[in-house]
Amino acid sequence: MNAQIAMLCSGKGGTGKSTVAVLLGAQLAARGQKVLLVELDSGLRSVDIIAGVYGRTVYDIEDVLCGRCAGDKAVVESPLYRGLSVISAPYEGGDIQPAPLRALCGVMRPYFDVILLDTAAGMGAPFRAAASAAQRALLVLTPDPVALRDGRIVADRLIEGGMPQAEVRLVLNRAARACFGKNAPVADLDECIDTVGIQLLAVIPESPALRRAGATGTPLPPASGAAVAGKALAARFCGERVALKFPV
Ligand SMILES: Nc1ncnc2c1ncn2[C@@H]1O[C@H](COP(=O)(O)OP(=O)(O)OP(=O)(O)O)[C@@H](O)[C@H]1O
Ligand SMILES: [Mg+2]
Repeated sequence: MNAQIAMLCSGKGGTGKSTVAVLLGAQLAARGQKVLLVELDSGLRSVDIIAGVYGRTVYDIEDVLCGRCAGDKAVVESPLYRGLSVISAPYEGGDIQPAPLRALCGVMRPYFDVILLDTAAGMGAPFRAAASAAQRALLVLTPDPVALRDGRIVADRLIEGGMPQAEVRLVLNRAARACFGKNAPVADLDECIDTVGIQLLAVIPESPALRRAGATGTPLPPASGAAVAGKALAARFCGERVALKFPV
């Protein structure tokens, strides 16, 4: 194995990066891939709850990057999604540095098919460290003008930094019919794509089931709309041609 490394990012906070990271990781794992999800959001953990590893972690990403433990000691398998493993963020900690993160990814790559780096909002230390290690990026944005405009700034930064434009893709999250139209802040999907200036990879619907699963650390029902959309996201992430469905 020689894992490909993808980062999830956004300008605006709370767009669903961590939720989509677990959804994508779980669906890639369901396809038989070994997935490592690393949460880089120091002090604002959430992946541990969403992936069901809360209370099972002894070491976190800071312990690894500071050399307090070997990388494998911090890897915890999700009890909810077989094939998905997690390295949690610390409850508090310093800035994530690019060189140690790249070194960790280098150590982990032989053992996984995909490494997902879940960053914090904005373009601070977690973003810069992830951008230095990742080959591709998913911008997880909600269909509102602020998230989309900030997303464009982030996409431009990644592309200026040397990431090929085709590897920077949009995942539109929390999409609902009411988000679009003449009287809504955004007219349609095309406007989202044009505002951010990158290709669309997937649309994830607004989903009470996804929110509930994340909040309670329980598995997402496989028949839910979000799970179906997550499956399509994973397929497209793997380069398969799957029609985009919206509304799903
Ligand atoms: N598709 C969705 N449908 C319904 N709720 C969602 C969806 N995606 C995310 N949420 C909810 O939105 C909130 C924020 O999600 P999440 O923590 O994943 O965002 P984030 O971008 O990782 O935030 P941060 O910038 O703080 O890291 C959570 O309550 C989550 O359950
Ligand atoms: Mg998050």
